[in-house]
Amino acid sequence: MIEKLKDVLTEIPTPSYFYDIDILEKTIDNLLSNSEDFLVFYSLKANSNPKILEVIRKKGLGAEVVSTGELKLALESGFKNIVMSGVGKTNEQIKLAITNDIESINIESIQEIEVVDQISQELNKTARVSLRVNPNVDPLTHKAITTGLYENKFGINFEHLGYALDKIKKSSNIEFIGLHFHIGSQITDMSVFKNLCIRVNEIIEFVLERKFNLKMLNLGGGLGIDYHNPNNIPNFKEYFNTLRKFLLKPKNVKVCVEPGRSVVGQCGTLISKVLFKKELANKELLILDSGMNHLIRPALYEAFHMIQNLTKIHENPTHIYDIHGPICESTDCFAKNVILPLTNRGDYIAIRSVGAYGEVMISDYNLRGKPHFIFMKNNKIE
Ligand code: LLP
Repeated sequence: MIEKLKDVLTEIPTPSYFYDIDILEKTIDNLLSNSEDFLVFYSLKANSNPKILEVIRKKGLGAEVVSTGELKLALESGFKNIVMSGVGKTNEQIKLAITNDIESINIESIQEIEVVDQISQELNKTARVSLRVNPNVDPLTHKAITTGLYENKFGINFEHLGYALDKIKKSSNIEFIGLHFHIGSQITDMSVFKNLCIRVNEIIEFVLERKFNLKMLNLGGGLGIDYHNPNNIPNFKEYFNTLRKFLLKPKNVKVCVEPGRSVVGQCGTLISKVLFKKELANKELLILDSGMNHLIRPALYEAFHMIQNLTKIHENPTHIYDIHGPICESTDCFAKNVILPLTNRGDYIAIRSVGAYGEVMISDYNLRGKPHFIFMKNNKIE
């Protein structure tokens, strides 16, 4: 709980990514207790901090990776079950996946079938592959994180699936094991997952009619978190029950999911200090010592993150501020019209729910340096 930090604030360097490992563990336990009949591959792209990965790996989750770097890290971190997607895999990446016998390479284009088969022949191996199908289902989320519509670059369109399957039949060094889908991120409307399942059922039928054997069905990630209530654990129960209810699972098929944000989102907070307070004609600005270089989501997607004044955590909110970073760009703004207690230079500010797509998207823009990283476990800072 962020409130626990109040007493140790002065020991915290800023800016800092603060990770609450107790929350992470609680979230994973909740996920696992609701997903006994599913295989769960954690999506490394949401957060690949080694300490976070260690917790996730110890809990027994698999890993979903999209690059050579992520694949190497997942292997080094000891993940046993790994699946790999990515619309632009390099030869090196494909080779590494095949030599390490990963669970599934999720192929995203017709040309990739040929390339994987060829690399696999050269290595004298057989690659286990799934086809990532673009189901053209609207995830009802921000345009920038929508991946499952035909206008997006991801996966193979259903119209090309028959051709892709024919190609797979003719490929000597590929074993087809299943289908993969991932339609978007920060999905909060369960009807989206219902619609996905209904479409997936039709696609499964199409594949089975063509006498292909399905072993693995991967529904991707996408479950959203409650950015307005950072203490809320995602509703895994409702999510998995929706999948159970609407997916017509063929016998002997392993159903998989690849959550990222829902696993790590709520365990992270960005802690920053107010450098300056500025008055404009009609508003007051707070300028923090952290900006879009450390958390780009508000600038990139106009994403909402709850903001609190940690120094005055128990005081009543009375003042309205626009909260900016120090970077030389007007998009470097975390939020506008935030109501906080009277805030001053030197106050500690918490930007909540940054565990997913926060640290991984840090840049060195303006050369302001990296933030610090702090972990709390059993109520103790490590
Ligand atoms: N599987 C695949 C193939 C993916 O591309 C993604 C995320 C996931 C799983 C995990 O999805 P999640 O459960 O985290 O929604 N940077 C953006 C989010 C980009 C998501 C990219 N793909 C943001 O900050 O909102």
